[in-house]
Amino acid sequence: MSRLGVVFGGSRGIGQAVAQLMARKGHRVVVVSRNHEAALATAQSLPGVGHLGLSCDVSREQDVQRVFETLVRTHGPVDYLVNAAGINRDALLLRSRSEDMISTLHTNLLGSMFTCKAALRSMLSKGGAIVNIGSVVGVKGNAGQCVYSSSKAGLEGFTRSLAKEVASRSVRVSLVAPGLIRTDMTADLREEEASQRIPLRRFGQPEEVAQTVLFLLESPYVTGQVVLVDGGLHLAL
Ligand SMILES: NC(=O)c1ccc[n+]([C@@H]2O[C@H](COP(=O)([O-])OP(=O)(O)OC[C@H]3O[C@@H](n4cnc5c(N)ncnc54)[C@H](OP(=O)(O)O)[C@@H]3O)[C@@H](O)[C@H]2O)c1
Repeated sequence: MSRLGVVFGGSRGIGQAVAQLMARKGHRVVVVSRNHEAALATAQSLPGVGHLGLSCDVSREQDVQRVFETLVRTHGPVDYLVNAAGINRDALLLRSRSEDMISTLHTNLLGSMFTCKAALRSMLSKGGAIVNIGSVVGVKGNAGQCVYSSSKAGLEGFTRSLAKEVASRSVRVSLVAPGLIRTDMTADLREEEASQRIPLRRFGQPEEVAQTVLFLLESPYVTGQVVLVDGGLHLAL
């Protein structure tokens, strides 16, 4: 059965791989990012019909509400929501600038809260599924990533609490925590060197994360899960 799925951060990287897999499975996909042209280009590249590309800054609640109001009016209720919009401004805490700390928390943590809140308005009547993208460093911590890992650890607590809040309304909420994945976010890292710490000895591909995201969206008896997709990196951190 074809569903309506919204992927925040769907224009590039992990979110784009999720959008592609969702579309290949026959679902209609709404690709959202700040850059409208990039969101449109990804939406147009997807197999199948009925996909949309929209611009929205996830850290602005009014922007997020506007997206869902428009969508529900024009396309009906949302079935799937994936929160893959995220940024990193990594630095030791003593060197972190407050504006970077605030934008990291606004985008990665508050942004996902805004999208979930807005999506729930349409999911509560007929059920749905949400997957938030966390990180292995939210689970294990990492020097030089205090703020980023806090945003992802917060997302983990939020995911579990929301799963409890909405389960009785047939809305499922889980979190995928990737390790090092080859995207723009990790473009500055030298894979050969960084892979030494990863038990599987390589970075993951966005498609490998997407597989787990789709599994969680489509598994009707799974909720409140945190699934690491990290080549075993959590074993080494
Ligand atoms: N790559 C990794 O190794 C890794 C590991 C663990 C977790 N993650 C997490 O996985 C998620 C996706 O990461 P990625 O590696 O795919 O990153 P990416 O390639 O940099 O893509 C980030 C996506 O988020 C969008 N975005 C960023 N800020 C936004 C905002 N304020 N509002 C709306 N959209 C926004 C970007 O589009 P615009 O710039 O056009 O807005 C883009 O589509 C992030 O949450 C990241 O923290 C990544």
